Amino acid sequence: MSLSGKHILLGVTGSIAAFKAATLARLLVRAGAKVRVVMTPLAKEFITPLTMATLSRNPILVEFFDPENGAWNSHVSLGEWADCYLIAPATANTLAKMACGVADNLLLTTYLSACAPVVVAPAMDLDMYAHAATQRNLTALRADGVLVVEPSEGELASGLTGKGRMAEPEEILTFLAEVLCPPAAGAVGSVPGATGVGAAGVVGVGVGAAGGEKKKSKLSGRKIVVTAGATIEAIDPVRYISNHSSGKMGYAIAEELAARGAEVTLVSGRTALTASPTIRNVSVSSAQEMYDAAVEHFTNADGAVMAAAVADYAPASPAAEKIKKSGGVMTLELHKTKDIAAELGRIKGERLLVGFALETENEQANAEEKLRRKGFDFIVLNSLKDKGAGFGTETNRITILDRFGNVVPYPLAPKSEVARVIVDRMEEFFGQEAEL
Ligand code: CTP
Repeated sequence: MSLSGKHILLGVTGSIAAFKAATLARLLVRAGAKVRVVMTPLAKEFITPLTMATLSRNPILVEFFDPENGAWNSHVSLGEWADCYLIAPATANTLAKMACGVADNLLLTTYLSACAPVVVAPAMDLDMYAHAATQRNLTALRADGVLVVEPSEGELASGLTGKGRMAEPEEILTFLAEVLCPPAAGAVGSVPGATGVGAAGVVGVGVGAAGGEKKKSKLSGRKIVVTAGATIEAIDPVRYISNHSSGKMGYAIAEELAARGAEVTLVSGRTALTASPTIRNVSVSSAQEMYDAAVEHFTNADGAVMAAAVADYAPASPAAEKIKKSGGVMTLELHKTKDIAAELGRIKGERLLVGFALETENEQANAEEKLRRKGFDFIVLNSLKDKGAGFGTETNRITILDRFGNVVPYPLAPKSEVARVIVDRMEEFFGQEAEL
């Protein structure tokens, strides 16, 4: 794994897991990265600056200025120098301060100045990690674009066992490599900006959004339909057939589109989520209801994102009364539901159509087949085989395949960040249309 020439700013906070920061610094240097270390005052109690300076091959920074000679340690220059700011271990205290924008040490002022992606590796006791305050802070940080390397379950310094153990240095290194050096695009195509997306590498996962490069969105005023959640197919008034979709990915996309000024109609199946008031919510239950609503709203729309998990088969004739059990075997006759995406693909004309493919095998081939069959402009592939991707998770790892033959894989990221990547691609398509 190579991080050749990358500038990694390693932030170390006061946790027993600080000893792992030494291994981390060594691995980073071995991978070819240039490493600088900034520590909180308390971190020095857990691992010595001498150890970290020796392993990182650079002096350690702790204070705002050197009390001996008054030399200023500029958090601004540090933030500019870094290609990635990795805070490992990140204590509950530091995470809370980051979430609130507190700036009472050099590590934190540097965080507020950083233009590069920020990655945190939390480390704490299981109850501290599970506490609503910590989880709230992590949610806020994710929303701010911070990437979180989830802690693992295991024995903790307290002697208890549970989730809170900092991820192993090797795991953090792999995560970092994916953020900074995602695999190259499978094909160089003719879509404007497609190589730019690949080259962006960090797929908008950093605090770079604070860099303020946002132009007026090409989505502003566009009408977009998003399908999300799971459909429910009644067997009788009490029972139904459904699936594990949480709706998180579709809702995140709807929110991102709305944030960029699109007029979003969210055709939503079963989910526990609630959309922002700026989003028009059309609540449906069955695949047939979703079909009717999606087709109706698509007619006046500029595009659609098909993120729902639609049942492919539904009971042929749902019983009006609760079915009583009788005999040892029960046979349920199922009929195929309508393919909503394929229908929108058939009538789309110049509209933009984005699909999803959740696969468990032959992922790319299956996604390519769906892209063609359903008439998508691009399809977002995720594999259930990927750790951290799929139903109910907070993160996702996607590959985008477009109708021009471009195949661009992206690193594991929070669903809100993945939504940003998908919506960026939508903007590119609308931009391309504007140029024609
Ligand atoms: N889709 C849809 N209507 C359906 C089935 C799927 O709109 N009745 C959409 C999904 O929202 C997704 C895409 O089509 O954007 C692919 O869904 P998927 O379930 O992976 O594809 P299927 O065509 O159902 O193929 P299979 O289940 O055989 O893999």
